[in-house]
Amino acid sequence: MQTLFKNIMELVQVRETPISFVSGKDMNVLPTIKDAFLLVENGLIADYGKMSDCPDLKDIEVVDISGKTVLPTWCDSHTHLVYAGTRETEFVDRINGLSYEEIAQRGGGILNSAKQLQNTSEDELYRQSKERLEAIIRLGTGAVEIKSGYGLNLEAELKMLRVIKRLNNDYALPVKATFLGAHAIPQEFKNKKSAYINRLIDEMIPRVADENLADFIDVFCETGYFSVEDTALILEAGIKHGLVPKIHVNQFTAIGGVQVGVKYRALSVDHLEEMRDEDIEVLMNSSTMPVALPGCSYFLGIPYTPARKVIDSGLPLAIATDFNPGSAPSGNMNFVVSSVCVKMKMTPEEAINAATINGAYAMGLEKQVGSITKGKLANFIVTKPISSYNFLPYSFGNHCIENVYLKGKVVE
Ligand code: NIG
Ligand code: FE
Repeated sequence: MQTLFKNIMELVQVRETPISFVSGKDMNVLPTIKDAFLLVENGLIADYGKMSDCPDLKDIEVVDISGKTVLPTWCDSHTHLVYAGTRETEFVDRINGLSYEEIAQRGGGILNSAKQLQNTSEDELYRQSKERLEAIIRLGTGAVEIKSGYGLNLEAELKMLRVIKRLNNDYALPVKATFLGAHAIPQEFKNKKSAYINRLIDEMIPRVADENLADFIDVFCETGYFSVEDTALILEAGIKHGLVPKIHVNQFTAIGGVQVGVKYRALSVDHLEEMRDEDIEVLMNSSTMPVALPGCSYFLGIPYTPARKVIDSGLPLAIATDFNPGSAPSGNMNFVVSSVCVKMKMTPEEAINAATINGAYAMGLEKQVGSITKGKLANFIVTKPISSYNFLPYSFGNHCIENVYLKGKVVE
């Protein structure tokens, strides 16, 4: 099966030599080919180049996309999109003056979502989640990571992870699964945090690993949730069972989460709204990807990750939605790309690199997605007619995508 896409106005993020990620000044470089073709074979990128070099292939499907831009689909490396119900009442509570922390202390927040999820059947959870997944695919996401963490007991955490696995089987995009049992201390373990940590280590992590339900292990390393010491214990247990660390750090307070992440060779450290010089330093010469989640900053009104400081220090940066019912109820990567340009002073080139190849690395998918490279999945976005890729972040809140292709097939 071959399809030729021809007369592409600009083919964006073309990487002939496969790369893992881009960092520092290289983030401001976005290789493109103007007036290009793209050849797809069996769901993979088989060839690309200038139209003047387009092969004359007989009897194959041809799609003319004159005047439009093609770029790899977004790689959303941090979501919690499997959840039950919504939390707009807390949103209104915050408008009326309560803080996110105050709501959590009253049993709202993550515990509110846990209660709703525990009372929802697996099929109903799948139904709600698949709607969200389909919505983000239409918005251009072509690879996604999804976390557990609203179950907070063995049965409900396994339910979440089985739903994630089912989504991975049923949809054409790669879906990575993260076990986030250490998202909050469950109500029944109030004032008994170490007993819950023992439960995680002795019972939940081994079971999740035995059933092959997760790729990554995550911890919400934060004041009032899990300390640096707790995080170390949980990551060690995860690693022992073959799970790769990928953690929540520095959202409200910087307590050494970045350091513990780097120590345990985390694939990524995510949030980073609070960033100290020593956090930047420890990330240098590490293989850990810093990940910013601007939707959360926007929605909670907390600081944005200091992207300029991160990138100007020579580090890479990825960006993701954090799609979840409490702190970022949107999985729209187009909004994320625009926000980092507007609020974090990233250039469109930096933003697109952060949302594609660097996002792919942050979920271990850099060999399959994140760039237009021969042999990668033919997961790409065809825009509406636009003057340049700069228009995407500029035209915030507007829908600039005409079609999304997964494995070379248009998403209906
Ligand atoms: O990434 N920070 C922890 N977890 C989520 C929010 C969870 C919630 O409020 O439901 C986050 O922001
Ligand atoms: Fe998160």
